[in-house]
Amino acid sequence: MVRAVQTLRDIAALRAFVGAQRSTARRVALVPTMGALHAGHIALLRAARARAEAVVASVFVNPLQFNEVRDFEHYPRDLEGDAARLRDTGCDALWAPSDATMYPEGHSVTVRAGRAAQGFEGTHRPGHFDGVVTVVAKLFNQVQPDSAVFGEKDWQQLAVVREMVQDLNFPIEICGAPIERDQAGLALSSRNALLSEEGLAVARRLNAVLRAGGGAEDLLSVGFEKVDYVGLLAGRVVAAVWVEGVRLIDNVENAGHPLPAGSR
Ligand code: PAF
Repeated sequence: MVRAVQTLRDIAALRAFVGAQRSTARRVALVPTMGALHAGHIALLRAARARAEAVVASVFVNPLQFNEVRDFEHYPRDLEGDAARLRDTGCDALWAPSDATMYPEGHSVTVRAGRAAQGFEGTHRPGHFDGVVTVVAKLFNQVQPDSAVFGEKDWQQLAVVREMVQDLNFPIEICGAPIERDQAGLALSSRNALLSEEGLAVARRLNAVLRAGGGAEDLLSVGFEKVDYVGLLAGRVVAAVWVEGVRLIDNVENAGHPLPAGSR
């Protein structure tokens, strides 16, 4: 069934939409994204649909969570394509605030991520999780969903958001959705679009190396330019690597391999 997806650009329109759902006792689920939607996001929307009668996808490329201006500027953006992709995906509304709506001139209050932000991404991307929890807190207050779905690819982010929701008493159920992969095992990511065929071929080795219990040396030997970390985090082996100047992350269940020397 093809569903009409409303694109909402300002808070008043968003509140009217959410108010209409509440007035008919429809639960609302939010899928926060930074756009460039792919099959991984569609899986998040399916998980949201299983929890609520009304599904809102947000698209906002959040400047506060980027460590480098170049990375922010090159992040893929395609709002029209995203709106088209959301048709027929079980989404009812696309919340696409402008930069000025999200961070009006003079705004100064931010949220500081908690203990779950320490290590791994928190070490390699200082301030990143503060930017994430700031925008997620704002999205939660704007949409006021009953539940929100996040991908397990960003395993540490999921823990950071859960911790914020618990510590700041947001009345929102946080759901993690399993990683979607291509046939070669590459975790779907908007950043994959930035890679050449050769870069993709290297990227596709990441998952196999992690599943085999490989560490930083093994990742370098299959063509990655740099390894930020490979390590254990809450039952998963998590890794961040670079290829063609693009940073990719992934994680796999810890099958009990001891991590080789050089992993961190
Ligand atoms: O995972 C993402 O795409 C982003 O970090 C999020 C949660 C949408 C916040 O900008």
